[in-house]
Amino acid sequence: MKTFQERVSEFSLEAKATLGKVKTLASLEEFNASFLGKKSELNVLMKELKELSAEEKKVAGPAIQKVRTELQTEYETKKNSFETKALNEKLVSDWIDVTKQKFTGNGSQHPISRVQRQVEDIFTSMGFEIADGREVETEWHNFDALNIPAAHPARDMQDTFWIQKNSDNPHENAVLRTQTSNVQIRTMMEHGAPVRLIAPGRVFRSEDVDTTHDATFYQVEGLVVDKNISLSHLKGTIQTMLSELFEREVKIRFRPGYFPFVEPGLEVDMWFEFTTKAGEKKALWLEFMGAGMVHPNVLKNCGIDSKQYSGFAFGFGLTRLAMMRYGIDDIRLLFSQKKDFLRQF
Ligand code: PHE
Repeated sequence: MKTFQERVSEFSLEAKATLGKVKTLASLEEFNASFLGKKSELNVLMKELKELSAEEKKVAGPAIQKVRTELQTEYETKKNSFETKALNEKLVSDWIDVTKQKFTGNGSQHPISRVQRQVEDIFTSMGFEIADGREVETEWHNFDALNIPAAHPARDMQDTFWIQKNSDNPHENAVLRTQTSNVQIRTMMEHGAPVRLIAPGRVFRSEDVDTTHDATFYQVEGLVVDKNISLSHLKGTIQTMLSELFEREVKIRFRPGYFPFVEPGLEVDMWFEFTTKAGEKKALWLEFMGAGMVHPNVLKNCGIDSKQYSGFAFGFGLTRLAMMRYGIDDIRLLFSQKKDFLRQF
């Protein structure tokens, strides 16, 4: 029978020979399991060591410990080098030459953004500031301050999304704004007069969606308050904007219109010339926007003296303007994410 010592050296020889042949991480782990693991000869020897006499242990103990340490150290070293090698290989194979990527084309500006920028440019060149408003607004700023009290029939003109409606106090109730006119109130209350601003932005109405109606759309509000402001200023301003936008002399006309926050109130029509899909040239008066002289009650609600100051206000649909400008016949296309549609701009 082999002595304990002989078994240790045999094990050591075999283990080292095997380890010497290891070339991959997988075979290294196999080695680990069969030569250093629980079921290995090494483990059997370690257990048997305990049963040896004290004398024998003195020699056999350090011998087997030495073998074990050597094997373990070598195993760790190899493991490290395999892992580093694998990582380096991965870094090389995963490296992407970004300069090699094929150019797949630019995005483009959405038609609404395009028209909005154009409108903003035109108005800033006329000395207007661009104001930003809230989309979630108090009932008071969206209605009451604009001379539309709770029982007023004009509220029915704008189907409202209510966010919070559990109080008699219009300052406590909240709506998704139905019009950009709320910006008139906020700006006048904050800055007083004079004011000259436009406020483009999203508005919300609980509408049935069809080719010309959406529950979310864009409006542009305009407000000028100063001394001696009259309707002729309004007419000149709108005519200038439309002519610049459509790059030709655009005719407009005023008709009486009703909006509680202006007096007198107007509908502004524009003479709209266009070519039908069949190539036919057409022209017609198109109702384009609401406007008028700011109602004295509105000025008063915002702390402005209506004896000293007067002003005009207007509001038009930016979404509608974009559709006219680019001949878009279905409002739903605008937010459809259809690439074929968007690529045209
Ligand atoms: N806020 C009105 C609407 O949404 C438009 C408007 C604005 C009318 C300013 C007059 C003056 O219908």
